[in-house]
Amino acid sequence: MESKPASSMFAHALDGRVALVTGGDSGIGAASAKALADAGADVAIIYLEDEVGAHETCAAIEASGRRALALRSDVREEAEVNDAFTRIEHIIGKVDILVNSAGINTYGIKVVDLSFAQWSDMLHTDLTGTFLAARRCIRALQESGKKGAIINISSIHADVVRSGSAAYASAKAGVKKFTETLALEVAGDGITVNAIAPGMILTPMNQSAKDHWIVRKVKSEFIPLGRPGTPDEVANVVLFLASPAGDYFTGSTLTIDGGLSKMLALGA
Ligand SMILES: NC(=O)c1ccc[n+]([C@@H]2O[C@H](COP(=O)([O-])OP(=O)(O)OC[C@H]3O[C@@H](n4cnc5c(N)ncnc54)[C@H](O)[C@@H]3O)[C@@H](O)[C@H]2O)c1
Repeated sequence: MESKPASSMFAHALDGRVALVTGGDSGIGAASAKALADAGADVAIIYLEDEVGAHETCAAIEASGRRALALRSDVREEAEVNDAFTRIEHIIGKVDILVNSAGINTYGIKVVDLSFAQWSDMLHTDLTGTFLAARRCIRALQESGKKGAIINISSIHADVVRSGSAAYASAKAGVKKFTETLALEVAGDGITVNAIAPGMILTPMNQSAKDHWIVRKVKSEFIPLGRPGTPDEVANVVLFLASPAGDYFTGSTLTIDGGLSKMLALGA
């Protein structure tokens, strides 16, 4: 199933803006970075390992006529995150759109078997990484008096859980509550903070479903719309929240899951 980015609807909506997308080398982050550039923003991305993916995203941003910058940075590390922002400020400008998409998944490990390292890595990447980037972004925005938009990628698993994913669900529920609290704290500065809760999206995080049609088919049977979502479809929500059309949203979590999280009553 092909889906198109909605950036043509938002042409020039983000002219003059500077965006940072963590995890912009892959999946939802890469699609978001491209969509933001198509809508007029200069875009920096943070990546951990995938240099090829980072270069591909930058090439797509530049093909939109926008400035691109890829920085290798670990969102778990306070100094690296702060340093990345400083470099972006020097090279492109002050970030006024932040998309926290960097994340990992530990699905399939029950709590009894979960190591401290796995728990800690999960929480540090998805939750602490979001905190570190958001805090640095807000400090700079408050200093300059600029408005901004922060968009955190949570998950439907912040609300609906499954066995074997306690660390992921805890991290994503944390992202949701962090989003709501921060939204209250910075509303007076004209900074909006929202989250997006995707269901099953075809990215490397769902590699088996990407690779094998039978896995896709079986998993799709639980999704009312009958198919997984695409990274571009999530990027469309990012674009909406970053654009003036999303100006009155703050502290919200927008679910995009084809209805998957509403299937709980099936066994009732
Ligand atoms: N794919 C889905 O079905 C789905 C569903 C709900 C939520 N999400 C969330 O969406 C976000 C993006 O995931 P995706 O599906 O695009 O997967 P992905 O694996 O394609 O992207 C994950 C990105 O996180 C980056 N990353 C991981 N650890 C990092 C670190 N320590 N420092 C910097 N970058 C790091 C990677 O470089 C990669 O770009 C994640 O937060 C994920 O939890 C995905």
